[in-house]
Amino acid sequence: MAAANLIDGRAIAEQLHTETAQRIAALKARGIEPGLAFVRVGEDPASKVYVGMKEKTGARLGIRSATHVLPEKTSEAELLKLIAELNADKSTHGILVQAPLPAHINQATVFSTVSPAKDVDGFHPVNVGKLMLGDTTGFLPCTPAGVHELLIRSGVKISGAEVVVLGRGNIVGKPMAAILIQKAKHANATVTICHSATRDIAAHCRRADILVAALGVAHFVKADMVKPGAVVMDVGVNRIADPQAKGGSRLVGDVDFDAVQPIAGKITPNPGGVGPMTIAMLMQNTVRAAEMQT
Ligand code: GUN
Repeated sequence: MAAANLIDGRAIAEQLHTETAQRIAALKARGIEPGLAFVRVGEDPASKVYVGMKEKTGARLGIRSATHVLPEKTSEAELLKLIAELNADKSTHGILVQAPLPAHINQATVFSTVSPAKDVDGFHPVNVGKLMLGDTTGFLPCTPAGVHELLIRSGVKISGAEVVVLGRGNIVGKPMAAILIQKAKHANATVTICHSATRDIAAHCRRADILVAALGVAHFVKADMVKPGAVVMDVGVNRIADPQAKGGSRLVGDVDFDAVQPIAGKITPNPGGVGPMTIAMLMQNTVRAAEMQT
């Protein structure tokens, strides 16, 4: 039997999909089909899986998508040229360049070439800046926006809460903190970001009412790092060896779920927690991009 304190990301993502599908129907009634372009460079196995899942969900909701796969050796200039074409294409409302990119390509240059109006990943400096400024006309990065939506829809009180975010990456940690510190409804938290140079991470974690783990270390968060009753959000996707599993490995989160679940107030399973929400927020961003462009 499922534990009672689980935050069911799959079910909440379906609620969002229902709302998004209604907006898509309204766009289609006006003759507009939301269009999303995926760009993948090279054959990173995880990126293939992620883009495949995003395409499939888009198709189910009525978003037309096109995936552009470029060879690993593609030059930065060639990639920027494709992005410029997609920026100019009226039927493409959203553009997602899947990270990581090959080492010879500057990721920041690529993200800042995508038109801010089509930047459904929320990685363009204009959208990052809008998030910091509390200007809600931009796009939020999908994973931290998904964690935020899970907290809201699970009835977690964010205002005044002590939040500890593990990880300071541009995709999750930094934007997560920026979302939660805003002077806004469902925000107003006191946020600490911990990273590889933080002294006594466990002591920080034990203060948290809400703990967001996004550092990319398998099973990093142990039971003695969690305050009883705390809300634990596990963003991690880590492949670990497991001779019993198909293919000899399996995916686990940043939280030692079996140890932490009994003491957490609420906790995301992993898989089935944050992951589905990342995709749901991407679909929502894409529909919003289409609404704003038309
Ligand atoms: N790689 C890992 N997460 C993401 C994401 O949210 N968007 C893109 N484009 N690449 C990623």
